[in-house]
Amino acid sequence: MPKKFRVFATCDIGDAIDLLRQRGYEVEIYPKPEAPPKSLIVEKVKSGIDGLITTLRDSIDAEVFEAGKEKLRVVAQIAVGFDNISRADANRYKIPFTNTAEVLTEATAEFAFFMMGALARKLWTAEHLTRDNKWSYWHPYLPFLGDEVTGKTIAIIGTGRIGLAMIKKCAGFDMNILCYDPAYQNHDYVKAIQENMDLRHVRGISKTKNWIKYVGVDEALSQADFVSVHVPLIREGESAAPTYHLFNERTLRRMKPTAFLVNTSRGPVVEEAALAKALREKWIAGAALDVYEKEPLSADSPLRDPAIEDRCRLYPHFASAGRITRLSSDPEKGMAGRTVQGLIDVLEGNYGGDVTKMPYVVNKEVGSL
Ligand code: GLV
Repeated sequence: MPKKFRVFATCDIGDAIDLLRQRGYEVEIYPKPEAPPKSLIVEKVKSGIDGLITTLRDSIDAEVFEAGKEKLRVVAQIAVGFDNISRADANRYKIPFTNTAEVLTEATAEFAFFMMGALARKLWTAEHLTRDNKWSYWHPYLPFLGDEVTGKTIAIIGTGRIGLAMIKKCAGFDMNILCYDPAYQNHDYVKAIQENMDLRHVRGISKTKNWIKYVGVDEALSQADFVSVHVPLIREGESAAPTYHLFNERTLRRMKPTAFLVNTSRGPVVEEAALAKALREKWIAGAALDVYEKEPLSADSPLRDPAIEDRCRLYPHFASAGRITRLSSDPEKGMAGRTVQGLIDVLEGNYGGDVTKMPYVVNKEVGSL
């Protein structure tokens, strides 16, 4: 039985916590669904916990790391993103933090695909029509039609794990695929998808001969019927290819007036005021968003304008919210399981205590500081 470690979790992560308790850990869970006050996190860290479980809404910065400088050994984040954790401060205090990459890849891509379908085929408007008892006849094109996804061209902006998973799903719908990524290109994957498309055509599974290729951003935006965003949030000065407000008045105007935008990446990648204008003035046909510049979406957001509600779908940062993806205790399947395993790896010194070898540690550079 390992030494008894103390852990504070800022949110309940379900049964996976039992894995820690079975190992003799003392775990306290913040009981409310909303974020705990920062002062409480600082107080708990100061009280001498060994591990802190956090999520996207908790600001983990120098104040928290300073409070934990005597004892805190790991921050385990239940999310793939870690915009809320200051990597520089974690490194300054030599504290590794973990995330839950990979286990939410398919769920997020699947949700992006469903958002795209819901938007293009007008599922929300169609259900309202039925529920509001306004469906009075079957007619070839009244009161409205939707747009098919099958056979269309999609631009995948960002070809990391989730972008590649989205590509796989789009290929299954006989879509043509334009890929754009300023930082990371996976030509082997794209080649394999093309081979797959060719085989489907040759064997009569797809009537059309579909294609996939990397292109520049202008070509991707101007040629696509759908644009799906899968880039990390990179602010000005953080890298040569920032993604902050990548979608702004200029880039939205590049899209076709019949095109749809889907964002499951990070809210600030899309300038919301510009998007609302683009939807009002019909520069593009519609947008579906799961992430926002500020979350939760404010009551006075221009995206809530009733004038655009038929073409603007809004979801509550929900893409990874599948039961297994969020809560499975198996670190190969669930974010909760991966969070707990990341914490155990650090506290129990797995991998010979070498954080550079621990798969879920993000800031591996702490190992050589
Ligand atoms: C969700 O957006 C996550 O980062 O896990």
